[in-house]
Amino acid sequence: MNLDTSYLGLKLRNPLVASAGPMTQTIDRIEWLADVGIGAVVLPSLFEEQIRAEADRDERLAEAGIDSFAEATTYILDPDSSVWPRRYLGLIERAAGSGVPVIASLNGSTTGGWTDYARAMQDSGAAAIELNIYYLPGDILISGRDAEQRYVDILTTVKAVVSVPVAVKLAPYFSSLGEMAVRLDRAGADGLVLFNRFMQTDINPDTLTISTGFKLSSPAEATLARSWIARLRGRVGTSLAASTGVETADDVAAYLLAGADVVMTTSSLLRHGPTHAAVLLDGLKAWMERKGFGSTDEIRGMFAAAANARQSDFGRVGYLRAIERATRTYAPQ
Ligand SMILES: Cc1cc2nc3c(=O)[nH]c(=O)nc-3n(C[C@H](O)[C@H](O)[C@H](O)COP(=O)(O)O)c2cc1C
Repeated sequence: MNLDTSYLGLKLRNPLVASAGPMTQTIDRIEWLADVGIGAVVLPSLFEEQIRAEADRDERLAEAGIDSFAEATTYILDPDSSVWPRRYLGLIERAAGSGVPVIASLNGSTTGGWTDYARAMQDSGAAAIELNIYYLPGDILISGRDAEQRYVDILTTVKAVVSVPVAVKLAPYFSSLGEMAVRLDRAGADGLVLFNRFMQTDINPDTLTISTGFKLSSPAEATLARSWIARLRGRVGTSLAASTGVETADDVAAYLLAGADVVMTTSSLLRHGPTHAAVLLDGLKAWMERKGFGSTDEIRGMFAAAANARQSDFGRVGYLRAIERATRTYAPQ
């Protein structure tokens, strides 16, 4: 059975990728994931704010000529619980020896000089860069076009400093995601990762506080990413990575059928540990055997909108059918 996969022009032994998150934060866990068969790993993001904070601190240290006033810098992120720039490059170097491609992740929302860090990541051995553009346009007068242009500009600045492939990790919140994908493709994106999950900010009426947080995903959340992958497969020249809601091998298979080149998971690995990667891969092989498929290439995109007659199920026809079915199922008797 052949699980060989190409993603961002990289050769992977299979399509299962550990996405950016705490599971890929240490070399031990990266090596563990490599041992149990993962196809590639994406390191947790290095944030624009971290790069700026470290640059500020270095400048202040140089001016003061001392090396002991870390307290003088206000950190937004806890240096002990996340991976900081210098340590990050060390992690890339060590992870590059794990035997699986290592994708470094940069997370920001502006086109500042921090984007040059992509070059340092490449020089440390990153096989590719994943760019998580986490932009929250809070100014209600920013137009959709201006917000979208920012994605293109950030991608362009990163592409200008690296020769390794660059993937863009997107949230689904665009007026026309398809056109955004096409624009990023034209601007040189080598891959699109669908989707990033936004933090779940909420208000607690009991404590009268705002809470920000992340919950692990559930398979029900995968449908949006899956349907967009089905729509984009064959319509953009970039690789497509699925991210959100993988818990079982069936979830992996469904994403491949939609047209994903690779299928990423964070929540399931955090829930069950690195060995879950082997469970997913064994399950995928068993499913392929049952269905008579010999390679992932045979499966990939079978249900992509451009290739499959039932594509209308992803559009309004499917919507109307679903409404009818749901009404029959849930309507009070
Ligand atoms: C605790 C936690 C930390 C994460 N950190 C990052 C990160 O640093 N960069 C990033 O691009 N995505 C990050 N993610 C998002 C994941 O990479 C992934 O896109 C998202 O969780 C959806 O996939 P899943 O359903 O497999 O969890 C994080 C997710 C979790 C749960």
